[in-house]
Amino acid sequence: MRKNSVMAQRLPRARTCAGLGLVLALVAAACFEFAGAAEPTAAAEVAPCAACHGAHGEGMAAAHVPRLAGQAADYLQKQLDNYADGTRDNPIMANFAKALSEPQRGKLAARYASMSAPHLPEATSIDARGLARGHQLAYQGDETKRVQACNGCHGPDGRGVPHAAPYLAGQSAEYLAGALKAFQQETRKNDAGQLMLTVAQRLNDADIAAVTGYFASLGASALR
Ligand code: HEC
Ligand code: HEC
Repeated sequence: MRKNSVMAQRLPRARTCAGLGLVLALVAAACFEFAGAAEPTAAAEVAPCAACHGAHGEGMAAAHVPRLAGQAADYLQKQLDNYADGTRDNPIMANFAKALSEPQRGKLAARYASMSAPHLPEATSIDARGLARGHQLAYQGDETKRVQACNGCHGPDGRGVPHAAPYLAGQSAEYLAGALKAFQQETRKNDAGQLMLTVAQRLNDADIAAVTGYFASLGASALR
């Protein structure tokens, strides 16, 4: 992890391209598995997803693939519905979501919700000042920018609140930053009452780096 983040600092471009190539290779592999899936067993059920989301739902930071393990089932199912109906725009996930029936989405969501992948805190590339700023946004928000505390909705230490908001702790900084930018740019407009659009549009790039680096740095103890 640490080695990865040092490389990322020195070679941002190389890493982005490698990440893209990785995702494309995974799409091909996953589509192949998807087409070949017969009677689903527990492992076979998540096989097409595991190529990217990992065997235990741990995700893959370098390719911006989120962790799914232990995330609430209703949240996961809602995201699959939203990829399919286009309120959350992502070409890769739209293809997978559209290929699933409603009961299949429900089953997969429940399966990932029940997983508890080991979690290693991400070696952070932000400095102490950034971490402090991230902590401040998480716990207090920023009154001058009218940003509410993230944890007010996302739960203590960003652990998530069932039926209300997903966990942020333990997600990679790469994925979280991508999600915040998607809210800002309105390619993700699936948040009820545009709560996250409002929050995200009041954050600048430095805030996003700080708050996502902070949540990514939280260890397994932050999750249940
Ligand atoms: C080729 C790689 C790939 C495969 C295969 C894949 N995903 Fe994803 N998945 C992604 C990426 C990348 C994202 C983040 C997209 C974004 O930023 O919106 C994602 C996002 C998600 C999310 C949203 C999570 C969140 O925290 O909001 C869910 C749920 C999900 N995937 C479920 C699945 C399921 C179920 C399958 C199998 C049917 C699957 N994915 C297969 C790459 C993949
Ligand atoms: C008023 C409540 C509220 C506040 C405050 C809030 N969020 Fe959220 N956030 C939500 C909800 C609800 C969702 C899920 C939206 C959906 O259904 O996709 C969400 C989703 C997210 C996601 C996407 C997670 C994923 O797995 O894809 C990120 C990232 C995020 N919030 C970051 C933040 C940060 C950082 C802050 C603080 C600066 C914050 N949120 C403050 C309610 C809130």
